[in-house]
Amino acid sequence: MPQLAYVNGHIVHHAAAMLHVEDRGTQFADAVYEVCAVLNGRILDWQPHLVRLRRNLAELGIVWSMADGPFGLQARRLIAANGHADCIIYIQISRGTARRDHAFPDAAPPNVVMTVRRFDFAQRVRQLDTGIKVVTQPDTRWGRVDIKTTGLLGNVLAKQVAREAGAFEAWLLDGETVREGSSTNAWIVKGGRIITHPTGTHILPGIARDSILRLAGEAQILVEERPFTLAEALAADEAFLSSTTSLLLPVVAIDGEKVGDGRPGPITRRLGELLWAEVARQTGWRA
Ligand code: PDD
Repeated sequence: MPQLAYVNGHIVHHAAAMLHVEDRGTQFADAVYEVCAVLNGRILDWQPHLVRLRRNLAELGIVWSMADGPFGLQARRLIAANGHADCIIYIQISRGTARRDHAFPDAAPPNVVMTVRRFDFAQRVRQLDTGIKVVTQPDTRWGRVDIKTTGLLGNVLAKQVAREAGAFEAWLLDGETVREGSSTNAWIVKGGRIITHPTGTHILPGIARDSILRLAGEAQILVEERPFTLAEALAADEAFLSSTTSLLLPVVAIDGEKVGDGRPGPITRRLGELLWAEVARQTGWRA
Protein backbone atom coordinates (compact mmCIF):
# COMPACT_ATOMS: atom_id res chain seq x y z
CA MET A 1 0.00 0.00 0.00
CA PRO A 2 1.51 3.39 -0.94
CA GLN A 3 2.21 5.88 1.81
CA LEU A 4 -0.22 8.74 1.84
CA ALA A 5 -0.17 12.24 3.30
CA TYR A 6 -2.73 14.99 3.78
CA VAL A 7 -2.19 18.45 2.30
CA ASN A 8 -4.86 21.12 2.65
CA GLY A 9 -7.85 18.82 2.31
CA HIS A 10 -6.35 16.33 -0.14
CA ILE A 11 -4.93 12.87 0.47
CA VAL A 12 -1.94 12.51 -1.84
CA HIS A 13 1.04 10.21 -2.33
CA HIS A 14 3.64 10.92 0.32
CA ALA A 15 6.35 11.44 -2.32
CA ALA A 16 4.23 14.10 -4.03
CA ALA A 17 3.03 15.87 -0.85
CA MET A 18 4.23 19.46 -1.07
CA LEU A 19 3.83 22.97 0.26
CA HIS A 20 4.79 26.18 -1.51
CA VAL A 21 8.37 27.45 -0.99
CA GLU A 22 6.88 30.54 0.64
CA ASP A 23 5.05 28.59 3.33
CA ARG A 24 5.65 30.54 6.53
CA GLY A 25 6.42 27.34 8.36
CA THR A 26 9.50 26.93 6.17
CA GLN A 27 10.61 30.55 6.30
CA PHE A 28 9.85 31.50 9.91
CA ALA A 29 8.89 28.28 11.72
CA ASP A 30 5.57 30.13 11.89
CA ALA A 31 3.68 26.90 12.46
CA VAL A 32 2.41 24.67 15.23
CA TYR A 33 2.26 20.89 15.31
CA GLU A 34 1.03 17.88 17.20
CA VAL A 35 2.21 14.28 17.30
CA CYS A 36 -0.39 11.70 18.31
CA ALA A 37 0.01 8.00 18.95
CA VAL A 38 -2.32 5.63 17.13
CA LEU A 39 -2.64 2.14 18.57
CA ASN A 40 -4.96 -0.50 17.25
CA GLY A 41 -6.21 2.11 14.77
CA ARG A 42 -7.34 4.46 17.56
CA ILE A 43 -5.84 7.83 18.39
CA LEU A 44 -4.65 8.06 21.99
CA ASP A 45 -5.75 11.19 23.88
CA TRP A 46 -7.17 12.87 20.76
CA GLN A 47 -9.17 15.42 22.74
CA PRO A 48 -6.24 16.77 24.81
CA HIS A 49 -4.11 17.01 21.66
CA LEU A 50 -6.87 18.99 19.98
CA VAL A 51 -7.20 21.33 22.96
CA ARG A 52 -3.43 21.97 22.97
CA LEU A 53 -3.38 22.53 19.20
CA ARG A 54 -6.19 25.11 19.45
CA ARG A 55 -4.46 26.85 22.34
CA ASN A 56 -1.20 27.06 20.39
CA LEU A 57 -2.96 28.46 17.31
CA ALA A 58 -4.63 31.07 19.52
CA GLU A 59 -1.31 31.99 21.18
CA LEU A 60 0.15 32.73 17.74
CA GLY A 61 -2.99 34.33 16.31
CA ILE A 62 -3.28 31.76 13.52
CA VAL A 63 -6.92 31.70 12.45
CA TRP A 64 -8.07 28.27 11.32
CA SER A 65 -11.70 27.71 10.51
CA MET A 66 -11.99 23.94 10.48
CA ALA A 67 -14.17 22.59 13.31
CA ASP A 68 -13.08 19.70 15.55
CA GLY A 69 -15.52 17.17 14.05
CA PRO A 70 -14.46 17.50 10.39
CA PHE A 71 -10.80 17.75 11.39
CA GLY A 72 -11.00 14.52 13.41
CA LEU A 73 -12.60 12.83 10.41
CA GLN A 74 -9.79 13.97 8.11
CA ALA A 75 -7.16 12.66 10.54
CA ARG A 76 -8.94 9.30 10.83
CA ARG A 77 -9.38 9.12 7.06
CA LEU A 78 -5.62 9.53 6.59
CA ILE A 79 -4.85 6.90 9.23
CA ALA A 80 -7.26 4.42 7.63
CA ALA A 81 -5.91 5.15 4.13
CA ASN A 82 -2.37 4.32 5.28
CA GLY A 83 -3.54 1.05 6.78
CA HIS A 84 -1.19 0.84 9.79
CA ALA A 85 -2.90 -0.19 13.03
CA ASP A 86 0.02 1.16 15.08
CA CYS A 87 1.46 4.45 13.92
CA ILE A 88 2.13 8.08 14.69
CA ILE A 89 0.21 10.89 13.07
CA TYR A 90 2.00 14.22 12.64
CA ILE A 91 -0.14 17.33 12.20
CA GLN A 92 1.30 20.71 11.19
CA ILE A 93 -0.55 23.98 10.70
CA SER A 94 1.35 27.02 9.44
CA ARG A 95 0.19 30.60 9.04
CA GLY A 96 -0.01 29.98 5.31
CA THR A 97 1.74 30.94 2.11
CA ALA A 98 2.64 34.58 1.50
CA ARG A 99 5.43 36.68 0.00
CA ARG A 100 8.15 36.81 2.65
CA ASP A 101 7.54 39.54 5.21
CA HIS A 102 7.95 39.16 8.96
CA ALA A 103 4.57 40.69 9.80
CA PHE A 104 1.48 38.51 9.38
CA PRO A 105 -0.02 38.36 5.87
CA ASP A 106 -3.51 39.87 5.45
CA ALA A 107 -5.36 36.94 3.97
CA ALA A 108 -3.44 33.70 3.81
CA PRO A 109 -5.34 30.56 4.82
CA PRO A 110 -3.29 28.24 7.05
CA ASN A 111 -1.49 25.32 5.43
CA VAL A 112 -2.47 22.04 7.06
CA VAL A 113 -0.43 18.91 6.51
CA MET A 114 -0.58 15.49 8.12
CA THR A 115 1.71 12.50 7.74
CA VAL A 116 1.55 9.02 9.22
CA ARG A 117 4.35 6.63 9.98
CA ARG A 118 4.27 3.10 11.31
CA PHE A 119 5.46 2.77 14.91
CA ASP A 120 6.55 -0.17 17.07
CA PHE A 121 4.96 0.48 20.47
CA ALA A 122 5.93 -3.00 21.74
CA GLN A 123 9.53 -1.75 21.73
CA ARG A 124 8.52 0.86 24.31
CA VAL A 125 7.05 -1.83 26.55
CA ARG A 126 10.33 -3.78 26.34
CA GLN A 127 12.30 -0.64 27.22
CA LEU A 128 10.40 -0.46 30.52
CA ASP A 129 12.64 -3.34 31.63
CA THR A 130 15.94 -2.02 30.29
CA GLY A 131 15.54 1.73 30.74
CA ILE A 132 17.36 4.35 28.68
CA LYS A 133 20.23 6.79 29.16
CA VAL A 134 20.18 10.56 28.98
CA VAL A 135 22.90 13.20 28.69
CA THR A 136 22.54 16.87 29.56
CA GLN A 137 22.81 19.89 27.28
CA PRO A 138 22.24 23.62 27.79
CA ASP A 139 18.68 24.76 27.03
CA THR A 140 19.24 27.18 24.16
CA ARG A 141 15.59 27.47 23.09
CA TRP A 142 13.42 30.58 22.88
CA GLY A 143 11.28 31.86 25.74
CA ARG A 144 7.91 30.30 24.81
CA VAL A 145 8.61 26.61 24.54
CA ASP A 146 5.16 25.98 25.99
CA ILE A 147 3.86 26.70 22.47
CA LYS A 148 4.43 23.62 20.32
CA THR A 149 5.93 25.32 17.27
CA THR A 150 8.08 23.82 14.54
CA GLY A 151 10.96 26.07 15.65
CA LEU A 152 12.86 23.10 17.08
CA LEU A 153 16.50 23.78 16.25
CA GLY A 154 17.57 23.87 19.91
CA ASN A 155 15.81 20.55 20.43
CA VAL A 156 17.27 19.04 17.25
CA LEU A 157 20.86 19.97 18.13
CA ALA A 158 20.51 18.63 21.68
CA LYS A 159 18.98 15.36 20.44
CA GLN A 160 21.86 14.91 18.00
CA VAL A 161 24.37 15.25 20.87
CA ALA A 162 22.43 12.53 22.71
CA ARG A 163 22.37 10.31 19.63
CA GLU A 164 26.13 10.66 19.13
CA ALA A 165 26.71 9.87 22.82
CA GLY A 166 24.64 6.67 22.52
CA ALA A 167 21.88 8.13 24.71
CA PHE A 168 18.14 8.18 24.08
CA GLU A 169 17.55 11.77 25.14
CA ALA A 170 19.17 15.06 26.14
CA TRP A 171 17.86 16.74 29.26
CA LEU A 172 17.99 20.51 28.84
CA LEU A 173 19.58 22.55 31.59
CA ASP A 174 18.89 26.18 32.43
CA GLY A 175 21.79 26.81 34.81
CA GLU A 176 21.43 23.92 37.25
CA THR A 177 17.71 23.43 36.60
CA VAL A 178 16.50 20.52 34.49
CA ARG A 179 13.68 21.86 32.30
CA GLU A 180 12.70 18.88 30.14
CA GLY A 181 14.08 16.62 27.43
CA SER A 182 14.57 17.65 23.79
CA SER A 183 11.29 15.89 22.95
CA THR A 184 10.11 14.51 26.29
CA ASN A 185 9.21 15.67 29.80
CA ALA A 186 11.61 14.86 32.65
CA TRP A 187 10.82 13.29 36.03
CA ILE A 188 12.66 12.13 39.15
CA VAL A 189 11.54 10.09 42.16
CA LYS A 190 12.82 10.83 45.64
CA GLY A 191 11.58 9.45 48.95
CA GLY A 192 8.47 8.00 47.29
CA ARG A 193 7.45 11.27 45.61
CA ILE A 194 7.53 11.99 41.91
CA ILE A 195 8.86 15.39 40.90
CA THR A 196 8.47 17.17 37.56
CA HIS A 197 8.91 20.74 36.34
CA PRO A 198 5.72 22.83 36.59
CA THR A 199 3.99 24.06 33.45
CA GLY A 200 4.58 27.68 32.44
CA THR A 201 6.76 29.07 29.67
CA HIS A 202 9.81 26.83 30.28
CA ILE A 203 8.44 23.42 29.26
CA LEU A 204 5.96 21.93 26.85
CA PRO A 205 2.86 20.81 28.76
CA GLY A 206 3.03 17.19 27.63
CA ILE A 207 -0.09 15.12 27.14
CA ALA A 208 1.69 12.04 28.55
CA ARG A 209 2.83 14.20 31.48
CA ASP A 210 -0.78 15.10 32.20
CA SER A 211 -1.89 11.46 32.04
CA ILE A 212 0.88 10.41 34.42
CA LEU A 213 -0.03 13.17 36.91
CA ARG A 214 -3.65 12.02 36.86
CA LEU A 215 -2.77 8.32 37.18
CA ALA A 216 -0.31 9.05 40.00
CA GLY A 217 -3.02 11.00 41.83
CA GLU A 218 -5.48 8.14 41.45
CA ALA A 219 -2.85 5.68 42.74
CA GLN A 220 -2.11 8.01 45.69
CA ILE A 221 1.49 8.48 44.64
CA LEU A 222 2.65 11.88 45.92
CA VAL A 223 3.50 14.46 43.27
CA GLU A 224 5.56 17.65 43.41
CA GLU A 225 5.38 19.97 40.43
CA ARG A 226 8.52 22.04 40.96
CA PRO A 227 11.84 22.64 39.20
CA PHE A 228 14.61 20.23 40.18
CA THR A 229 18.38 20.47 39.67
CA LEU A 230 20.83 18.17 37.95
CA ALA A 231 22.36 17.41 41.37
CA GLU A 232 18.94 16.32 42.64
CA ALA A 233 18.45 14.15 39.57
CA LEU A 234 21.84 12.49 40.10
CA ALA A 235 20.94 11.82 43.74
CA ALA A 236 17.39 10.65 42.95
CA ASP A 237 16.10 7.15 43.70
CA GLU A 238 14.64 6.84 40.21
CA ALA A 239 14.12 8.92 37.10
CA PHE A 240 12.01 8.64 33.98
CA LEU A 241 10.79 10.55 30.95
CA SER A 242 7.48 10.79 29.16
CA SER A 243 6.03 11.67 25.76
CA THR A 244 3.52 10.54 23.19
CA THR A 245 6.07 8.39 21.40
CA SER A 246 8.07 7.23 24.45
CA LEU A 247 5.04 6.80 26.72
CA LEU A 248 7.02 6.36 29.95
CA LEU A 249 10.66 5.20 29.96
CA PRO A 250 12.92 4.66 32.97
CA VAL A 251 16.09 6.76 32.95
CA VAL A 252 18.89 4.58 34.31
CA ALA A 253 21.86 6.89 33.69
CA ILE A 254 22.46 10.64 33.41
CA ASP A 255 25.72 11.80 31.81
CA GLY A 256 27.15 8.31 32.37
CA GLU A 257 26.27 8.22 36.09
CA LYS A 258 23.84 5.64 37.40
CA VAL A 259 20.47 6.76 38.73
CA GLY A 260 19.72 4.79 41.90
CA ASP A 261 21.04 1.27 41.38
CA GLY A 262 21.12 1.77 37.61
CA ARG A 263 17.94 -0.20 36.99
CA PRO A 264 14.29 0.84 36.52
CA GLY A 265 12.83 1.51 39.97
CA PRO A 266 9.54 0.35 41.50
CA ILE A 267 7.60 3.63 41.26
CA THR A 268 8.65 4.10 37.65
CA ARG A 269 7.57 0.55 36.83
CA ARG A 270 4.25 1.03 38.60
CA LEU A 271 3.54 4.26 36.70
CA GLY A 272 4.55 2.55 33.46
CA GLU A 273 2.05 -0.23 34.13
CA LEU A 274 -0.67 2.29 34.93
CA LEU A 275 0.03 4.25 31.74
CA TRP A 276 -0.05 1.14 29.57
CA ALA A 277 -3.29 0.08 31.25
CA GLU A 278 -4.71 3.48 30.27
CA VAL A 279 -3.50 2.93 26.69
CA ALA A 280 -5.27 -0.45 26.69
CA ARG A 281 -8.42 1.12 28.13
CA GLN A 282 -8.55 3.80 25.43
CA THR A 283 -7.43 1.79 22.41
CA GLY A 284 -7.72 -1.93 23.24
CA TRP A 285 -3.99 -2.28 22.41
CA ARG A 286 -1.95 -4.93 24.20
CA ALA A 287 1.73 -5.82 23.81
N1 PDD B 1 7.48 15.71 21.49
N2 PDD B 1 8.69 18.27 25.64
C1 PDD B 1 9.03 18.52 24.37
C2 PDD B 1 10.06 19.55 24.08
C3 PDD B 1 8.40 17.80 23.32
O1 PDD B 1 8.73 18.03 22.05
C4 PDD B 1 7.44 16.81 23.65
C5 PDD B 1 6.73 16.04 22.58
C6 PDD B 1 7.14 16.59 25.00
C7 PDD B 1 6.12 15.58 25.44
O2 PDD B 1 4.82 15.98 25.05
P1 PDD B 1 3.68 14.91 24.76
O3 PDD B 1 3.56 14.07 25.99
O4 PDD B 1 2.49 15.71 24.49
O5 PDD B 1 4.16 14.09 23.57
C8 PDD B 1 7.78 17.35 25.97
C9 PDD B 1 6.80 15.16 20.34
C10 PDD B 1 6.35 13.76 20.53
C11 PDD B 1 7.68 15.36 19.12
O6 PDD B 1 8.15 16.47 18.96
O7 PDD B 1 7.85 14.43 18.35
